[in-house]
Amino acid sequence: MKIVITRHLPNDITKELVDNFNVVMWEKENEPMPRKQLLEEIKDADGLFTNVADQIDFELLERAPKLKVISTMAVGHDNIDINEARNRGIVVGHTPGVLTEATADLTFALLMAAGRRIVEGMDVIRQNEWNSWGPFFLTGQGIYKKSIGIIGMGRIGLGVARRAKGFQMDILYYNRSRNREAEEELNATYCELDELLTKADYIVLLAPSTKDTYKMIGKAEFAKMKHTAVFINTSRGTNVDEEALYHALQSGEIFAAGLDVFDPEPIDSEHPLLKLRNVTALPHIGSAAIETRIEMARLACENLLNGLKGQPLVHEVK
Ligand code: DGY
Repeated sequence: MKIVITRHLPNDITKELVDNFNVVMWEKENEPMPRKQLLEEIKDADGLFTNVADQIDFELLERAPKLKVISTMAVGHDNIDINEARNRGIVVGHTPGVLTEATADLTFALLMAAGRRIVEGMDVIRQNEWNSWGPFFLTGQGIYKKSIGIIGMGRIGLGVARRAKGFQMDILYYNRSRNREAEEELNATYCELDELLTKADYIVLLAPSTKDTYKMIGKAEFAKMKHTAVFINTSRGTNVDEEALYHALQSGEIFAAGLDVFDPEPIDSEHPLLKLRNVTALPHIGSAAIETRIEMARLACENLLNGLKGQPLVHEVK
């Protein structure tokens, strides 16, 4: 059986796959297998090891008559046409759980960086703009005992809420369903989206990318936020209207934003949001802690192996 792996992975992680299957692995780690090559290789493949940056769409699935398992090294699977895969009897695996804490760490790091202007401070030194100590030089928003509004209280949302609790923040959340654990353990308060947007000092977007969450935060939502609000997005770029975000940041409608995700990705230095001093931007590295990425890769291999052996996946996308 043949497996296609669209990024280079370390030998110790792929060993079991290599020992048991005919593995075609792209040689580069930080560049995708070219689409043309993927469309060619997938023609006779039984398994696919992929990630958030590959589009696993109708065109690709149409060319993959033998494909039985798609395993993505990610929790999010909005890049995969799940319905089409299901129609074709292809099982899809993903890697929830193992990346929760790393992503919550990074989300909180962005919150702190954007609120306290940390990256901007370093830029000021780099550009020789640090002339003296000033009473209000580079003043940002305090974090301790402020309020945080978490949109999407899943595993990662709960992780962020636990970190916020350490800063004695008042925790508000909005979610499709109530999260009793967050309410009981952290005293988090469920509220409607509008109320969260109006009340929270820090607004953290962690909703999955679906047709219902597409551009869920746009002009009307930014208009409801405080002028001192700090907006964080570590979910998906598609959840935000980036043009509306740009105007909210430029006009001072909100104070700052910390962004790990964009639509589309990757962006480059010419992206309008990067022209704004009150934006802290990262290249989609929410889960990029070394031990986490190793666990994600191992789990994605296990999903693939199980699927090809006809066994239940450790984590199947349902
Ligand atoms: C995910 O897992 O969905 C992240 O966005 C990639 O690490």
